[in-house]
Amino acid sequence: MKPQPFIIGKLIIDPPVMLAPMAGYTDSVFRSICKKYHCPVTLTEVVNAEGTIRGGHQTLHLLETNPGERPIGAHIYGADPDRLAAAAIIIEKTDRFDFIDINCGCPVPKIVRKGAGVALMRTPEKIERIVYTVKSAVSLPVTVKTRIGLSPDKMNIHEVSQAVEAGGASAIFIHARFASQRHSGEANWEILARIKSEMSIPVIGNGGISCVDDVFRMFSQTRVDGVMIGRAAVGNPWFFDEIYCRVNNLPWSPHSLEEHRAIIMEHLENLVLLKQKEYRYKKKNSIPVDQAASLHFRAHLHQYLRGFHGWPQIRRNLNTMHRIENIREAVDWIIAKQKSLS
Ligand SMILES: Cc1cc2nc3c(=O)[nH]c(=O)nc-3n(C[C@H](O)[C@H](O)[C@H](O)COP(=O)(O)O)c2cc1C
Repeated sequence: MKPQPFIIGKLIIDPPVMLAPMAGYTDSVFRSICKKYHCPVTLTEVVNAEGTIRGGHQTLHLLETNPGERPIGAHIYGADPDRLAAAAIIIEKTDRFDFIDINCGCPVPKIVRKGAGVALMRTPEKIERIVYTVKSAVSLPVTVKTRIGLSPDKMNIHEVSQAVEAGGASAIFIHARFASQRHSGEANWEILARIKSEMSIPVIGNGGISCVDDVFRMFSQTRVDGVMIGRAAVGNPWFFDEIYCRVNNLPWSPHSLEEHRAIIMEHLENLVLLKQKEYRYKKKNSIPVDQAASLHFRAHLHQYLRGFHGWPQIRRNLNTMHRIENIREAVDWIIAKQKSLS
């Protein structure tokens, strides 16, 4: 059965999939590339509500968007309903976002210590208050990204999802793992199915997707309204294109090596432009901008080239690649190597 679009406020999400927020990865450059390959909606990296209110440079940088990448949600964290609402008002005024997403799933100690992220799961009534307060402060729809619980003995996604709905959220994104699992271990899709059967707002499932078949398996096994894709899209933005073609019964064929090369270079070159904007905010620039972009790009490069013949050689030399030119040469070399072997 063809998965149907889901709705966040007035947004129609078709095909019903989205890119997960991933700190350090899902900046405007990567989001725009995913968008180009039919990812219908994305979220920013996690943004500190306090930093937004202060107008901190780093926070402003995380809220950079490209005009062409909408619809997009601003993914914010904080512990205090009024402060989150104040941040949401600022974000709404930028006129760059389509909804506000509250992080209730991040297990990073720096965030949990502040009572934010997954720490909010300890008090579902507070989550309800946060959603209600933020929703009352802005006209944008509000969503929540959460997990199934803190740990197997603290599985309270039922209470949390009820609170999210009671607060007036437009959708809930559920990473089907406990905070104690971080990002690994089995994702519990049975719980996704149960929560989906209990909720009126759209439930978007996340976790345990490594190939396009998994996306359709999640739809059929859990009946969720949408699927959120994280790591499987890193180094493979074509993932969304394959889903799009499958949902719409269009022919799909793997992209060429030339396209692979072109996207790697587009990603890197646009990252340099994004870093240039970041440097505009910074008081002191320690390393040259293209070196900063090259460093940042390594994690993506790893995913783009993993499994390619010659990748171990490049990986050994990554530490010496400080310039865009170094990366371009390495990419040209490895693409030529694949061509000669095919
Ligand atoms: C490097 C990395 C950074 C992440 N950052 C965030 C974040 O800032 N906020 C959040 O809610 N989830 C974050 N996540 C979790 C993802 O959004 C997603 O829930 C998780 O990776 C499971 O989905 P996947 O199996 O499709 O990758 C992050 C995951 C990774 C791997």
